[in-house]
Amino acid sequence: MLAGLAAVVGLVAGARAQDLALTGTWVPDGVTADILEHQPTHVRVLVIRESGGGLVGKLLVPTAGGMPVAVEQHGDHAGLVIQMARGMETPLEATLTGDHMSVGLRGNSSPPTILRRPSAEEQKILDRLAPVKLPIPARKALPPNGLARTPPMGFSTWNHFQTKIDDQTIRNVGDALVATGMRDAGYVNVNIDDGWQGERDAEGNIRANDKFPDMKALADYLHGRGLKLGMYTSPGPKSCAGFEGTYGHEEQDARTFAAWGVDYLKYDWCSAGLIYDDAEMPAVYQKMAEAIRATGRPMVFSICQYGRADVWKWGADAGGNLWRTTGDITDQWQIMSAIGFEQDELAPFAGPGHWNDPDMLEVGNGHMSAAEYRTHLSLWAMLAAPLIAGHDVRGSTPETIALLTNHDVIAIDQDALGRSGRRVVQRGPLEIWTRPLNGKRTAVALFNRSAEAAKIETTFAELGLEGRAAALDVWAQRSSVVLDGRVAADVEPHGVVLLVLSPA
Ligand code: GLA
Repeated sequence: MLAGLAAVVGLVAGARAQDLALTGTWVPDGVTADILEHQPTHVRVLVIRESGGGLVGKLLVPTAGGMPVAVEQHGDHAGLVIQMARGMETPLEATLTGDHMSVGLRGNSSPPTILRRPSAEEQKILDRLAPVKLPIPARKALPPNGLARTPPMGFSTWNHFQTKIDDQTIRNVGDALVATGMRDAGYVNVNIDDGWQGERDAEGNIRANDKFPDMKALADYLHGRGLKLGMYTSPGPKSCAGFEGTYGHEEQDARTFAAWGVDYLKYDWCSAGLIYDDAEMPAVYQKMAEAIRATGRPMVFSICQYGRADVWKWGADAGGNLWRTTGDITDQWQIMSAIGFEQDELAPFAGPGHWNDPDMLEVGNGHMSAAEYRTHLSLWAMLAAPLIAGHDVRGSTPETIALLTNHDVIAIDQDALGRSGRRVVQRGPLEIWTRPLNGKRTAVALFNRSAEAAKIETTFAELGLEGRAAALDVWAQRSSVVLDGRVAADVEPHGVVLLVLSPA
């Protein structure tokens, strides 16, 4: 008995020694001090430390970013899972041999990467490149700021223009929003995403780069047309595209944005991952939300950290009016549909003033079919998601404008109850979602995710509805007959039939 116990204790002590061998800093075996110094973003650094009786890791791209790595050790082996965004996890397998660690993709036979401890010289460079952690506020629940009572609508430069933006383009986009009727349909925010930033002046004030000679004048131009100006920055030293971030200038930048007339701020994690752990995100966002509020200018606060750290649980308290729940969308059916259909469980966290944000729209960017774009818009409307157009509004086709300004799909998105829809039926690739609307109405979306046409049928009982209902078909733009307990429709591949049912 005693001997057995001793063996167990010995085993535990042995495992403990192995655990410690994993902690600390690891760099790729091929790295040199010269590469670290001159091409730091080419290097991946793994840092593992003890936390709460277990191990936690972080994958750093020096000067650019960092993301959490879950670590589970079993003797000489460890499972590592890098999390870039919600739903975007990369599982790795690591083996410790002496003072080296080999790391490869789980279940993949390509040669692993060999990691080693940095030399004293390399460690010095790493230390020098690491920004210091700034004080972050004690967490508290900020009261609602009264904005975004329905999901924000507008336009953002990112999906189409990326960093190829300038003052004239933004003015032209503003004019196009007016001319196409998009503004009147609700798309009022003109959000300048990454790429406007210049350098700071001698007093540390952020300046736009020379493509934006006068931000205040640009804001005035938009305001004069019934539009609003959205701006973008990061809590890190650099934005995701490598421009100047707000790190250490939170209050100052908030004051600058207020002086320019900014109405909306997207605060994108980016290089803040170098400095803070994901657990510190709430406080880092709260800090900027408080800085904005201290200016006295109302600004919608858009939290962007790719849906990590269960942001839906703390985003509203941290002052957010919306928070991204995913990695970046692209103009591809696979990506858009994976993102959109994976939002169901987050529905309870959306409501007036605080919305789940599955990212901006790709409608009109050209790489999805009309049916796929209808699915995109219908799903975003069912989710009560922000509708931020991401195409070149200046060159919109009539078809794109018709999709984006469909009055009934917007009315679903903007419904005053502010309740996000849920998946109620799933039969393989066929999904039925419902969303409660004001006036005891219900939006019902019949989605066909397959590449074949399909008949989708359901009963009121399955949808949780009673009695008889009058149906409006949103995309066919017609009211169909009164339905008596049953809904059925032929749905094209990757398509949707979107109905609004009113009690009859
Ligand atoms: C991140 C965000 C995007 C966009 C880019 C800009 O990837 O998730 O929405 O803002 O940065 O660099």
